[in-house]
Amino acid sequence: MRSSIVVAAFAAFISSVTAADAVKGAAEGFAKGVTGGGNAAPVYPTTTAQLISYLKDASPRVIVLTKTFDFTGTEGKVTESGCAPWGTGSACQVAINKDNWCGNYQPKAPKVSKITYDKAGVLGMTVGSNKSLIGQGAKGVIKGKGVRIVGGAKNIIIQNVRFTDINPAYVWGGDAITVDGADLLWIDHVTTDLIARQHIVLGNTASNRVTISNCEINGATGWSATCDGHHYWGMYFTGSSDLVTLKGNYIHHTSGRSPKVAGNTLLHAVNNYFYANSQHAFEADSGAKIVAEGNVFQNVKLAQQASLAGKMYNSASATTNAQCKAYLGHNCVPNAYGTSGALTGTDTSILASFKGKNVAAAGTAESAKNVVNTAGYGKI
Ligand SMILES: *[C@@H]1O[C@H](CO)[C@@H](O)[C@H](O)[C@H]1NC(C)=O
Repeated sequence: MRSSIVVAAFAAFISSVTAADAVKGAAEGFAKGVTGGGNAAPVYPTTTAQLISYLKDASPRVIVLTKTFDFTGTEGKVTESGCAPWGTGSACQVAINKDNWCGNYQPKAPKVSKITYDKAGVLGMTVGSNKSLIGQGAKGVIKGKGVRIVGGAKNIIIQNVRFTDINPAYVWGGDAITVDGADLLWIDHVTTDLIARQHIVLGNTASNRVTISNCEINGATGWSATCDGHHYWGMYFTGSSDLVTLKGNYIHHTSGRSPKVAGNTLLHAVNNYFYANSQHAFEADSGAKIVAEGNVFQNVKLAQQASLAGKMYNSASATTNAQCKAYLGHNCVPNAYGTSGALTGTDTSILASFKGKNVAAAGTAESAKNVVNTAGYGKI
């Protein structure tokens, strides 16, 4: 009798754990179909070493974070010289002299004789294929180290996790999410704040199909390359063959690279809320193709840099918006602006690149104003 009650209670416990500690929803847009760790039984790391091991091993895994994993100090500290290319004021970031970067690229910058940074931040944890990394409620916090998805890793979901406090005073002190050679990646309801360099970077190698949705890119910082409390190094997408859906994200208190798009990247930026940007949001080098629709720009000095080399289509007119339907499956949706510079791209030649792909739906810019309430970790 007693044992059957225990068995029943245990079974109920197992099923409730499985139901709660699972990926929620499904990816929209280019990474549609991603499954991450799939139905693997959830694992609950308790130490930073265990988290590192679960992320990189060869097994499909659903890795559930139930607390803050603090990596600061786990690899020691480094003290060395650096430079101050953006000025020596206390609100300015200082650069680590990584690979003699100061000497090679900033020879005129004032030298800084002694800076001390945390070594764990510099290189993220390697993530293998077939992994889901998820936070439980608002508990999933990774402090002082990011993740690296490289070398052909495939089918990965990161959902409901906050990455924070990665050497924020020092450029080259680390990224939150580095991708360089991957496929089928979904980054959802992730918060990044107080990061040294890039919040999200899709590097030179092909990242293939990526969806970044419902994330909060929080650039508010005491140390910035623009020395004004706004982080410059937001998102950089520069893969050799990248399809990136950027939907429903709250991107705020940045001053550049929000995002920077280069390489051979097709970007669908839809229903994002850009707020309080002291310089510019979009940068686009030659090779970039961007469709931006249904976004809100509020207090964004420039929605884009002047005379972009890349190609952009920005809901130019009702007539050209209707041309979207044949390729994106819907008419393109106007963006909205409040006390902001506007996007100017009218290049309809790039619309055909979306044909036959999984394309995210687009709501109105008015509906995207709710993104401030839904984006980031701890909300699902
Ligand atoms: C990931 O899962 C797929 C599908 O089950 C499988 O073919 C592939 O070998 C897995 N990759 C790794 C590295 O385990």
